[in-house]
Amino acid sequence: MREQLLAAEKVKAIEWRDGVLHLLDQRALPFEETWLSYHSAADVAEAIRNMVVRGAPAIGISAAYAIVLALRARLQAGGDWRAALEADFQLVADSRPTAVNLFWALKCMRDRLDRLKSTDDPLLLLEACAVGIHQGDREANLTMAELGVDLIRRHQGNQQNFLTHCNAGALATGGFGTALGVIRAAFHDGLVERVYADETRPWLQGSRLTAWELAVDGIPVTVNADSAAAHLMKTRGITWVIVGADRIAANGDVANKIGTYQLAVNAMHHGVRFMVVAPSSTIDMATEHGDDIVLEERDASELLELGGQRIAGEVDALNLVFDVTPADLIDFIVTEKGVVDRPDAEKMAQLMCRKRLH
Ligand code: MRU
Repeated sequence: MREQLLAAEKVKAIEWRDGVLHLLDQRALPFEETWLSYHSAADVAEAIRNMVVRGAPAIGISAAYAIVLALRARLQAGGDWRAALEADFQLVADSRPTAVNLFWALKCMRDRLDRLKSTDDPLLLLEACAVGIHQGDREANLTMAELGVDLIRRHQGNQQNFLTHCNAGALATGGFGTALGVIRAAFHDGLVERVYADETRPWLQGSRLTAWELAVDGIPVTVNADSAAAHLMKTRGITWVIVGADRIAANGDVANKIGTYQLAVNAMHHGVRFMVVAPSSTIDMATEHGDDIVLEERDASELLELGGQRIAGEVDALNLVFDVTPADLIDFIVTEKGVVDRPDAEKMAQLMCRKRLH
């Protein structure tokens, strides 16, 4: 199935060409496909902060390339480039707080830097490391798609209705997606009747990005208001909620786009299975419990304005953009190392000791 899935890849968000990072501007989708070019770490950090690129794995991959750009500039400037590079690491780390893939990718780059020998070419090796992170994420997507679709087949072998939240597709990763990767593989296997895409206020990743990606692939998709999800579970024969993750704590609690938690509560009430699909780079074993995850709060204007127009009076707004779903509401966490069912701290620790499957 891997080859067929690879052959069907149509959308991508990140390209590294001739030492330049190219990002598809996700703020302009679905109406404009504009690629922006990045030559400095500061500009990549800004692109992450401003949502040009978003989604946990894609943020991590972009951060790795940002360090390559920073290294090149520091080497050209001469002097103590290692010391100077620390400021670049910090700048990129400060771009967004919740997706742990960002910090994971920076750690991979730092570890590679620390292992350099005096005869090594730093730029060549760090570029190879960033490309490896990018390629590794693509591979992980494929493995997770195979594992996820196996679960779907095993639990009910005929056509089913899915609900997803935010965008965990090609635009959010280095490959064809985590949650959407599983849905793509399920479609390929004839298991998808329809996908319901929560619109995902306030950035509308569901209606602008997920619906676009699925429509490009010819997968039947219907956009719904976030608040319609419980009603849809009751009335539209939804069998699976499938989402991605920004950070998974050591006990299996999952931080993901705001609204994920209420989906999990509603899924449990309606007997709908709840699957989280994320590479192991999203698992943060240093964070014991979901309550310890820093949840990003963005500017209130994102809620109080729509298309640049004010839609509320002079009131406060709380624009928390992630929430935490407790592990006991989750049926499966699918990673490239394997599947954890009914996650808890012990099962997560066992998973993290395994090697990736492919
Ligand atoms: O604010 P965003 O768009 O970066 O949030 C993205 C999500 O919440 C995704 O579900 C998550 O990063 C997983 S992407 C494979």
